Amino acid sequence: MAVREIKPGIYSVGAIDWDRRLFDELIPLSDGTSYNSYLIKGNEKIALIDTVDPTKTYELIDNLKKLNITNIDYVVANHAEQDHSGSIPKILELFPNAKVITNPKCKEMLKDLLLIPEDKFLVINDGDTISLGDRTFEFIFAPWVHWPETMFTYLREGKILFTCDFLGSHLATSDLFVTDEAKGYESAKRYYAEIMMPFRTSIKRHLERIKDIEVEIIAPSHGPVYTRPEFILNAYKDWISDVVKNEVVIPYISMHGSTGNMVTHFVNDLIGRGITVKPFNLTKTDIGELAIALVDAATIIIATPTVLAGPHPNIVYATYLANALRPKLRFASVIGSYGWGGRTLEMIKGMMGNLKVEILDPVIIKGFPKEEDFKALDILADNIHKKHKEHGI
Ligand code: FEO
Repeated sequence: MAVREIKPGIYSVGAIDWDRRLFDELIPLSDGTSYNSYLIKGNEKIALIDTVDPTKTYELIDNLKKLNITNIDYVVANHAEQDHSGSIPKILELFPNAKVITNPKCKEMLKDLLLIPEDKFLVINDGDTISLGDRTFEFIFAPWVHWPETMFTYLREGKILFTCDFLGSHLATSDLFVTDEAKGYESAKRYYAEIMMPFRTSIKRHLERIKDIEVEIIAPSHGPVYTRPEFILNAYKDWISDVVKNEVVIPYISMHGSTGNMVTHFVNDLIGRGITVKPFNLTKTDIGELAIALVDAATIIIATPTVLAGPHPNIVYATYLANALRPKLRFASVIGSYGWGGRTLEMIKGMMGNLKVEILDPVIIKGFPKEEDFKALDILADNIHKKHKEHGI
């Protein structure tokens, strides 16, 4: 990434990862990502906020050279995960006077993960400030957006909130700022769905905490910078609210067409009842798309054949993921076909412990669907329609 000036003396010096397609060996990145690092020049001290993924250390170092930086006093670590902290050891090697400013929990994690020695840290507490001379950092502890040690750094002069993972987006773009809000929204929603959704309760608390801070710019450590903070803050308020939409998500697999025929019939049932329906054939879909659909949906219907006495392994994965992401679903059920027996329903129900859902009567049938099976699907569609209406969805 080229060096870009955000405001006088405040630079973006991170790296764009155009080619990355998987994060944490788990999360699909359809649009790559960036690891944003920010250099802040005070009239007495110079600080770097977060660093970059270790694979991109050379780009960060190159950017600091372009700015003729010969001394760094502080490296602020808002988060210990290696995509932001991984270049800290190299920075400490090149700038031996630098201290790592972070919270007690993050310090311990950085010692464990990156073997940074104890004497390199300057530990701060929630609400503490550090002066760069004419500029002041204020630290805001914000645990669990993504790990337990996450925090924000607020630059008072400039009114910039550096949020690291929080409010970010996995989007590789040459735009420093969000200029295309439609694309920015789409990327930020995917990021929220894949990474932040399990932390809805923590996010509510943090949004409340920062609502009285005057913020002109939000600078996350993934994706472009927001010059209209209300754009991303309002989007988050919507996503974390308890409001669900009149939507049914159907992750499905069909091995020989029986479950597939049930899904086709059921999708049309729901459309006919005015319900938005989002089926995902798990042999073809990007699992991130399923996560995005779970942000707003009221109901999930798991559709699976029985294989080896239980749900198809791809369905096990999707159900496990949906459970781990803790979406605000209200209703769930299972449809599908078996050949001779099994415990598919019990196994799927047992994997939904985090979901605060009412389980609606399932439709588990033997073999290819027959007329009475399609009628059972019609009844399930009626039931979903009724439940949504009763709950004002
Ligand atoms: Fe971008 Fe939790 O690291």
